[in-house]
Amino acid sequence: MAVALLVAAGRGERLGADGPKAFVMLAGRPMLEWSLDALRAVEQVRRIVVALPAGAQAPAGTIGVAGGAERSHSVRAALAAAGESGPDEPVLVHDAARPLLTPAIVRASLEALETTGADAVVAAAPVVDTIKRVADAELRVAETVPRSALWAVQTPQAFRRAALERVLAQPDEVLAAATDDASLVEQAGGRVHLVESPRENLKVTTPVDLRLAALLLEERC
Ligand code: C5P
Repeated sequence: MAVALLVAAGRGERLGADGPKAFVMLAGRPMLEWSLDALRAVEQVRRIVVALPAGAQAPAGTIGVAGGAERSHSVRAALAAAGESGPDEPVLVHDAARPLLTPAIVRASLEALETTGADAVVAAAPVVDTIKRVADAELRVAETVPRSALWAVQTPQAFRRAALERVLAQPDEVLAAATDDASLVEQAGGRVHLVESPRENLKVTTPVDLRLAALLLEERC
């Protein structure tokens, strides 16, 4: 069995919506409901904890907790509310900002955690753009980074519970600097693997992402 933590406490300022991003209406429902559907459909997920912005209600059948100042603080708050379980029980962390999650992606992440024996498994898609690193504020190009080994990281990220607990016990400022939780496990010397996931599992950050996500979800229904 597994526990799922859905982080939904961000303000989503780059989206420019009135309220918190996870509650913006998307194809007729608040954005976080799409991820919840996918998580609820996976038999192995026995409990879902949602990190929420101030004043928001926990969705039906979930445990709600107040989110923290930064994303990893919200993950830590959600894990603390998940209740006891064994050190090896998988914990899935998913961003409510990725509403195109499917049960198949969740199952593949859990299965890869099992088969690789890694501390964490991260859903990711091969990078399709050519990536250049710039040297300065004038945008002078320093190098073109070989693309073949580059992957764009998504959520869900599946962790062995003990590995996630250990890295989240670090000081607030260490967590604040992390853009995902798997990088904390990497820094601590843990073994992290990727599992291939479709590019459609996109992150809603700006208004154009919201339009794209709405089109894809409407197509699915
Ligand atoms: O802001 P960004 O899109 O990078 O956030 C990724 C995810 O983390 C979103 O689902 C957001 O709601 C969540 N988050 C959070 N608590 C924060 C910041 C972000 O739960 N303090």
